[in-house]
Amino acid sequence: MAGNILIVDDEPVVIKSCERILQPEGYMVKGSSGAQEAMGLLKNNAFDIIITDLKMPEVDGIELIRWLRNINPSVGIIVITGYPSQESIKDALELGIIDYLPKPFSPEILIDVASKAMSVVKAMAHVKETTEEEEIEKKSMELLSIIEKNKYKPGSLIPVLQQAQELIGYLPPSVQRLIAKGLNIPVSEVHAVVSFYSFFTMKPKGKHNLRVCLGTACYVKRSAEILEKLKDFLKIQQGEITPDKRFSLETVRCLGACGLAPVVVVDHDTYGAVDPVKATEILEQYK
Ligand code: FES
Repeated sequence: MAGNILIVDDEPVVIKSCERILQPEGYMVKGSSGAQEAMGLLKNNAFDIIITDLKMPEVDGIELIRWLRNINPSVGIIVITGYPSQESIKDALELGIIDYLPKPFSPEILIDVASKAMSVVKAMAHVKETTEEEEIEKKSMELLSIIEKNKYKPGSLIPVLQQAQELIGYLPPSVQRLIAKGLNIPVSEVHAVVSFYSFFTMKPKGKHNLRVCLGTACYVKRSAEILEKLKDFLKIQQGEITPDKRFSLETVRCLGACGLAPVVVVDHDTYGAVDPVKATEILEQYK
């Protein structure tokens, strides 16, 4: 299979044409008539690329792209629109779309754009995997020694995971597989424990981890604006780390300090009554 593609367009004819053109090229193609439906599909399915219209009723394409960048930055995005405006194209480009396709487009152009986008997505995945695997490999001897010391102790899984996370900073699938093999338990058991406990993470974190609360008490006091300001200031999306690995940015649903809303936590320090400007000032003390 060449790749999984989601087409988002409120015109059924566009979805049908894309399916007709891309399926014979080996792509699995799914269609969605609007951004809201697409969000549901993207939460529950793995797509390599989405090809989305910009002008749609209810939720527009830019909003969908912004949302997708937060939940899955590695999906390749192609924009199609019949009503291009400088502003919307500029917004889409700033959000890191791979390509832009004005309507109407020929089958050859669509195939070419999809194939180039797939190459970009695959290259990015390879770079990410290689860097991560190299980092893990450097620490693998220490990790194996942690597993060895604990393998015959009852209830050793959680202590091993804690030490592995302290060593590597996070618990990606390759580390979970190594631990499962070393402790002679199924990978599914390791994965279930990692997913259940919030103090375990499968994503790398920066030297300082920022958590912005989007729980109700904080949200009504405009914590979403704090999040946007931090994203702009750090030039990363939520779930990402800065290139210098100094900061990572997460959101949470209630930190149990609603009386202080809106709340931002940096590592183990809680800051209450934060506003967007104060949020960036707080970061200055974390070198
Ligand atoms: S809602 Fe933010 S701390 Fe409770």
